[in-house]
Amino acid sequence: MLVLSGKDLSEKIKAETALKCSLFEKKFSRKPGRAVVLVGDNPASQTYVKSKKKACEELGIAHLDVEFKSDITQNQLLDCVHELNENPMVDGILVQMPLPSHIDELAVTQTISPDKDVDGFHPQNIGKLLLGQKGLVACTPKGILRILDHYNIETSGKDVCIVGRSNIVGKPMAALLMQKDRNATVTVCHSKTKDLASYVKRADIVIAAVGRVNAITEDMVKDGAVVIDVGINRVPDESKKSGFALKGDVDFDALCKKVSAITPVPGGVGPMTICMLMENTFLAACYREGADPSIFGEV
Ligand code: GUN
Repeated sequence: MLVLSGKDLSEKIKAETALKCSLFEKKFSRKPGRAVVLVGDNPASQTYVKSKKKACEELGIAHLDVEFKSDITQNQLLDCVHELNENPMVDGILVQMPLPSHIDELAVTQTISPDKDVDGFHPQNIGKLLLGQKGLVACTPKGILRILDHYNIETSGKDVCIVGRSNIVGKPMAALLMQKDRNATVTVCHSKTKDLASYVKRADIVIAAVGRVNAITEDMVKDGAVVIDVGINRVPDESKKSGFALKGDVDFDALCKKVSAITPVPGGVGPMTICMLMENTFLAACYREGADPSIFGEV
């Protein structure tokens, strides 16, 4: 049984991206730049934003961090996004989700320039993804493909079951895997799926993006399956300084005995998401400068 370490792989890709960013800076006399907008005080969002900032510092990416209180109006937030769209030092813009309920997330996503949409959430980038055209690709699904590639896990002709239909993970993941370069047969399950276990059971590759601890149990998975756990759930744990532990969506300990490969939580998909965000920022910077990213090394 193989533990698929997104942590190790992300360190390798981050080192490569750091080198590319330094070559970019030599050529264009500026660093690639990324802005993050955080609204409110959601603790998980604050942690993610901090990790993204740290990664920028490690990799030589300029960062601009904008924070608003949760009572900001939608128009004020959209004005901020317009300013970042116009800011020549900013190649990538990320507005951390979720947003407070009085703000329409789609309106915000659609306002980000598609060329600066390093999250790959803009309808134009999602459309390109579906059509198999080049564009900025959502970080978590992109990171999952990198894990599969790195560990030589074939997707062609395989049955893949994605559990979760979010715009951030499930939908773009399905769109990527059904393309002609991946050739997977994809099933997308969700909260209204009847007999979830029957779909998971026939899958060669299971991608769990449910947002609930132990949503996928041992009895649901077939022998030798590959399991990718996207969940990052906080569960109370008094032995931790933070007061919580991170758990995935799958019952890792039980599944270990049955599967051929599995991602851990933490240290699996999570670090890859951040690392793909950095890579997307580098790519967006190259496109904005009219440069082919491959001149700085293999992508
Ligand atoms: N919230 C949880 N994951 C993400 C992500 O990848 N991007 C943004 N913008 N918000 C998130």
